[in-house]
Amino acid sequence: MVIPAAGVGRRFGGNTPKQYLELAGAMVIDQVLGQFVEHDAISGCVVALSADDGYWPDSRYAQHPRVQRAPGGRERCHSVANALAALTPLADDTDWVLVHDAARPCLRRQDLDALLEVLRDEPVGALLAVPVHDTVKRSRDGRHVEGTVPRAALWRAYTPQAFRLGLLRDALREADRRQQAVTDDASAVELLGLQPRLVEGHGDNIKITRPEDLPLARFFLEQQGRPCG
Ligand code: CTP
Ligand code: MG
Repeated sequence: MVIPAAGVGRRFGGNTPKQYLELAGAMVIDQVLGQFVEHDAISGCVVALSADDGYWPDSRYAQHPRVQRAPGGRERCHSVANALAALTPLADDTDWVLVHDAARPCLRRQDLDALLEVLRDEPVGALLAVPVHDTVKRSRDGRHVEGTVPRAALWRAYTPQAFRLGLLRDALREADRRQQAVTDDASAVELLGLQPRLVEGHGDNIKITRPEDLPLARFFLEQQGRPCG
């Protein structure tokens, strides 16, 4: 399991990176790790952290035996690549690795288990995703509509995303070599010509990105009946 957590949260703003803000009695990243560290199918977590991170020691999982740290990188894809490098001596190249954003605290256990179930007979890998329900417009100048994009084939890519360790490591390396910006793990695998499987999840698995997302996440956790703290 890899948790990229080395971002600064530029769009969210403020001094404290969003993964360390308080949410329903725990830090956002601790809400995230709580879903994975005791899960039977997950043998451990590597958390990618920026070098000057002074917040991680306050995590309730900082000293957990199934959690280790790796250095963060310039972009999310570099942080994930560093975490995979830390996993490489500990795992087989054919082992599944899940990658989940540190800023996505509302993942439902049910969606995680649905993803794991699909991996039983899916060779390439899989990701949680949600169909696009809004009408989508295209604009190059950001002011005028050029057209409407048919949404029937469009999905929002969420995490976790699961790939075999060796494949994901090679895919990220290749994306980097081609200087292709990839904002999720599946994009790197797609660049190799492979087709990851979509697993429909729930829309409340939001990534906290802007300030208004934090109260929304609090509401979703409450609705899910997740215990506080
Ligand atoms: N991330 C990372 N290393 C980076 C950039 C991002 O590990 N160099 C992580 C973030 O900590 C987050 C996840 O990747 O858990 C998703 O990224 P995003 O939501 O974009 O977070 P930030 O990059 O922190 O936010 P922003 O883009 O607004 O600065
Ligand atoms: Mg970012």
